[in-house]
Amino acid sequence: MEKKNVKLYRGLQGVYFDRTQTTYIDGSNGVLEYRGYNIHDLAEKSTFEEVAYLLIYGDLPNQKQFEDFDTILKSSRSLPKKTFNVIKNIKNSHPMDVLRTIVSMLASFDEDRDDNSVEGTIRKGIRLTAQIPTIVMAHHNIRNNRTPIEPDNNLNHAGNFLYMLEGKKPSQNAINLMDKDFVLHADHGSNASAFTARVVSGTSADIHGAITAGIAALSGPSHGGAAEDVMQMAREIKTPENAEAYVKNLLSNKKRVMGFGHRVYRAEDPRAIHLKEDVKKLSNELGQSEWYEILVSVQKAMAPYSRRGIHVNVDFFAGVIYHLNGIPQDLFVPIFTVGRIPGWTVQIVEQFQHNILIRPLLHYTGERDRKYIPIENR
Ligand code: CMC
Repeated sequence: MEKKNVKLYRGLQGVYFDRTQTTYIDGSNGVLEYRGYNIHDLAEKSTFEEVAYLLIYGDLPNQKQFEDFDTILKSSRSLPKKTFNVIKNIKNSHPMDVLRTIVSMLASFDEDRDDNSVEGTIRKGIRLTAQIPTIVMAHHNIRNNRTPIEPDNNLNHAGNFLYMLEGKKPSQNAINLMDKDFVLHADHGSNASAFTARVVSGTSADIHGAITAGIAALSGPSHGGAAEDVMQMAREIKTPENAEAYVKNLLSNKKRVMGFGHRVYRAEDPRAIHLKEDVKKLSNELGQSEWYEILVSVQKAMAPYSRRGIHVNVDFFAGVIYHLNGIPQDLFVPIFTVGRIPGWTVQIVEQFQHNILIRPLLHYTGERDRKYIPIENR
């Protein structure tokens, strides 16, 4: 018999499972803060390196702290040679699958492999922050039968990432947009991938395992995968005039419009505001304003849904920015990953600092008291 009076929270919706001092989100009013700093200030005034430091250490760095941190990041960009052989062997897989595999593999090469202290975990998290862009771009070059491009330490994190795509020095504008995108993605509370990473860390497993699992969670279309799907949708819509009919068709077939809706935000995702402006500027600059217009038409067609709290999310405008920067569609989720590593790192550290096994209950609704029948009698 089914147990009575069980209060179920499917999807753990609305459940607080711990405290955090990292990221504040007010979903009703569209507020996001990292360590008490508003995302709008950070997006406009800060850099990814500074935000990574802020998330990991709790305060903005002074000049000396910034330079030391930047030096560590830059000197950790290379990958062990053996990883390239594995990338070659799986080069036809989705970039997220390759990333997941290589991050897992890097655990074996890390000089702090057996050090799961907070300090060791931070060192490994910073190294992963530096190495992940190199993995993404090494795979991209290998699958295109090119030699991976060595990181350029004269470029910042965002600039080097874009440079490693094809070995061309990106424009300052492209670097700034990518940098801002990384800032906007750096952390987001207890989202599915960060929660996954915390569940793994809750067993006291290491950061490489936790981030490998986080990458798997992020890759799904309900989470990081949405930016890729939005780009696909924009391609299928082709012209702004087609947007309304396209959206109506999706909704009447009970399908979701990608890049809309959020578990926490009932107001517009504050990250999307910045990206919308950037798409507008970039698509006009490149003489490809149709992308911006298609997205705005989709947003208009979805306007009636805003009354139900369904607004654009961070993924809606991000994909077109990547596309306009010459980045192929299947690298959109890896870009999200590049931005998110500092957030995962600090959440894993928080988990370790007050560790507890995360082990909720499942309400059993199946059969009971069944008689075992030997196989020959079934
Ligand atoms: N298009 C159309 N209807 C939607 C959408 C959407 N994108 N999102 C939610 N709804 C409807 C949903 O059908 C449901 O309607 P009803 O009550 O009539 O059944 C209602 O809104 C509530 O939906 P829900 O499934 O309870 O919402 P959720 O909190 O479980 O889902 C979500 C959140 C992000 C998975 C969902 O909004 C979605 O699938 N969006 C599209 C994918 C997407 O853009 N994901 C990126 C999320 S932001 C970046 C990140 O964190 O990774």
